[in-house]
Amino acid sequence: MTSARRFRFYETGGAEVLRWETAELAEPGPGQARVRHTAIAVNFIDIYFRTGLYPAALPSELGSDAVGVVEAVGEGVTDIAVGDRVGYLIGPQGAYSDVRIMPAAVLIRLPEAISDQTAATLMMKGMTAQYLFRQVYPLKGGETILYHAAAGGVGLLASQWARALGVRMIGTVSTDAKAEAARANGCAEVIVTSREDTVQRVKELTDGKGVSVVFDSVGKDTLQTSLSCLQPRGTLVSNGTSSGPVVIDAMQLAAKGSLWVTRPAMMHYIQPRSHMLAMADEVFGMVISGKIKSEPGQVFALEHAAQAHQMLESRQTVGSTVLLP
Ligand SMILES: NC(=O)c1ccc[n+]([C@@H]2O[C@H](COP(=O)([O-])OP(=O)(O)OC[C@H]3O[C@@H](n4cnc5c(N)ncnc54)[C@H](OP(=O)(O)O)[C@@H]3O)[C@@H](O)[C@H]2O)c1
Repeated sequence: MTSARRFRFYETGGAEVLRWETAELAEPGPGQARVRHTAIAVNFIDIYFRTGLYPAALPSELGSDAVGVVEAVGEGVTDIAVGDRVGYLIGPQGAYSDVRIMPAAVLIRLPEAISDQTAATLMMKGMTAQYLFRQVYPLKGGETILYHAAAGGVGLLASQWARALGVRMIGTVSTDAKAEAARANGCAEVIVTSREDTVQRVKELTDGKGVSVVFDSVGKDTLQTSLSCLQPRGTLVSNGTSSGPVVIDAMQLAAKGSLWVTRPAMMHYIQPRSHMLAMADEVFGMVISGKIKSEPGQVFALEHAAQAHQMLESRQTVGSTVLLP
C-alpha cells in the first residue's frame, strides 16, 4: 500500500468545496502504472468539473493533466517502465494528488530536454494549441486570425505557435499587463477589451474585411463579438466556455455571412495512442527547437489549489498555472 495525498470534492461549487485528504493506493493492476507527480497543471476544465458545468460522479477527484515519475507498473505494461519521466492530459480525474494510479496507455514519455514544470505547461495546453492550429483549422501561414484570451495558459502558447507559422494573430486580453505578455509571446496585434471595441478594432486591422477564423475559448460573453468579426463563410472555433456556455442560433449564422462553427473537444483529436504521441512530439519539438518557450506564470503548492482556482476564474493569472506537490 502507498499513502497518497489528494483533493476530492463531495459537492459542486466554489473553490471551497475542494477537500485535502489522505488515501491508501493499491498496487497498480494490469495495464496500470503508479505515477509520483512532480508538477500538476491547473486548467479551466478543472473549474468546469468543480462547479458542475461538466458532470462528475460525487465524490470526485480532480485534474487530468500532470507530470511525474513512474514508480511501479502492473502486469502487461510494456511501453512504460519504472523510472520513466511521464506526463498525461487525458484519463480519469485525480491529477490533484502527490501520487496516483493511472492507465499506462495515456502516459507520454518526456524528452530529457523538457523540464517537469515546462512539461506541465505543455501537456494539455500545448496539445490544445497543436490541435486547434494544426488539426481543427489547419493554418498555412499568412492568415490573420482572432484569438480570445491571448495571455491565458493556452493563449501564450498559441501566440508563439502562430508567430512560428507566420500567422498574424490578433489577440484579446483584459488588461495592459496581459497585452504586454501576449505581445512578448508573438501575438502580432493586441486588443485590450476593457478599453477597446473588439469588432471595430478587428475591422480596422483587416481593412474592413474581418478575419477568416476566430478561436473563442471565452464563450458566452464573446460569442456575438466573434461572429461579428468574421468574414463571410468564416469559421468560429468555439473551444471553451470560460465565461459560460454558448448557445448558437443557426439562422444567425446565415444572416452573418453563411458562417461555420465547430465546438472541438480534445478527446476526438487525440486517438489512437500513436496519434497522441505524434502530437506530443510536435509540441516538444516546438520547444526543443526554440520556437516556443514555456514556463509557468504562477506556481502554487498543491495544498493551495483552491487559491489557484480563485485566481484563474477571476482572470488574475497570466499564462499557465502549476501546482507543486
Ligand atoms: N476544447 C478543448 O479541447 C480545450 C482544451 C483546453 C482548454 N480549453 C479551453 O481553453 C480555455 C483556456 O484554458 P486555460 O486553462 O488556458 O485558461 P486561461 O485562458 O488561462 O484563463 C481563462 C482566461 O479567459 C479570459 N476570460 C474572459 N472572460 C472570462 C470570465 N468571465 N471568467 C474567466 N475568464 C475569462 C481571461 O483572460 P482575459 O482576462 O485576458 O480576458 C482568463 O484569463 C478555456 O476556456 C478552456 O476550457 C479547451
